[in-house]
Amino acid sequence: MVQAARQVLEGRTDPQSVPFPYLLRLATEAAARACHEWIGRGDKMQADRAAVDAMRAVLDMLPFRGVVVIGEGEKDEAPALYRGEVLGAAAGEPQYDIAVDPLEGTSYLAKGLTNAMAAISIAPRGALFDPGPCFYMEKFAAPGEARGEIDPSWSTERKLRRLAECLGKRVRDLTVYVLEKPRHERLVREIYEAGARVALYPAGDVAGAIMAALPNSGIDALMGTGGTPEGILAATAIRALGGTFFGRLDPQLAGEKARVAEAGLDTQRWYRLEELVRSPDVLFCATGITTGLLFEGVACDARTYRTQTLLVSGLSRERQLLTTWAPRI
Ligand code: FBP
Repeated sequence: MVQAARQVLEGRTDPQSVPFPYLLRLATEAAARACHEWIGRGDKMQADRAAVDAMRAVLDMLPFRGVVVIGEGEKDEAPALYRGEVLGAAAGEPQYDIAVDPLEGTSYLAKGLTNAMAAISIAPRGALFDPGPCFYMEKFAAPGEARGEIDPSWSTERKLRRLAECLGKRVRDLTVYVLEKPRHERLVREIYEAGARVALYPAGDVAGAIMAALPNSGIDALMGTGGTPEGILAATAIRALGGTFFGRLDPQLAGEKARVAEAGLDTQRWYRLEELVRSPDVLFCATGITTGLLFEGVACDARTYRTQTLLVSGLSRERQLLTTWAPRI
């Protein structure tokens, strides 16, 4: 199947004969391979550009038509697949919403650190929440056992106590993934006071949120504020995995608050997963760039690239971890 998927890009196999998830992984794998060269070279922009160009080129060959609803780059003015961009080789009206981050963890990658990945989600048209001009979102992610059991507006201590009960653990055995940012000083203190552990990472809350939703991953929850596009992207994966996720728009940048208010968006409200991703028919695909919590990064020798890709299908609730060895051309 992997071979057939590659042949589709070379025009040697009918795209309809290959299941779509296997085609989608070609896009994240291409992005991951393209930025391998830029790991640890201190150049975020070049890395981002390589990932964006490689992913766009593959997506434009695939037999679908989708519109980017959640793209990256507007906050950092980085190269991006922009919101509103239509992708795919099929004709007609777009049938899908796309959430995409060709390089999640740009600064990690530039510093040669762990957890950078290329990720994309596809859902039926109109399924993904539109955060308008809001770049930041407060997030709460946890395993499926906590679904319907936790109100995200509760205090940190109460949330962790209930989460521990849901997971059959002691609070002191919980580990909460938090981005290491000045805005989280109070949150981190509250988690310590509640008795749980904190895993502090300088970047990469898509990996953190997915880890929180995956059973026995070593991370029991993700808390705190990060990017909104990353939040929706993580929400698609968590919807497909059957985990727990809430998001609240939480503007941080100068001017962002005013633009969010102008757009009439509510920053007090916690959105449920089903409001952020309004269909179970979601496909999430991510390939590791640098080795991290979720999967191994790109490795290569003179002849071969090795990549690891996580594929999650919301309808079947199936998840696959695929390792691909591709010839280095
Ligand atoms: P990069 O900009 O290095 O790609 O970082 C990604 C990320 O850490 C996300 O995982 C997170 O949601 C967001 O940035 C947080 O943004 P900020 O660093 O501006 O607080």
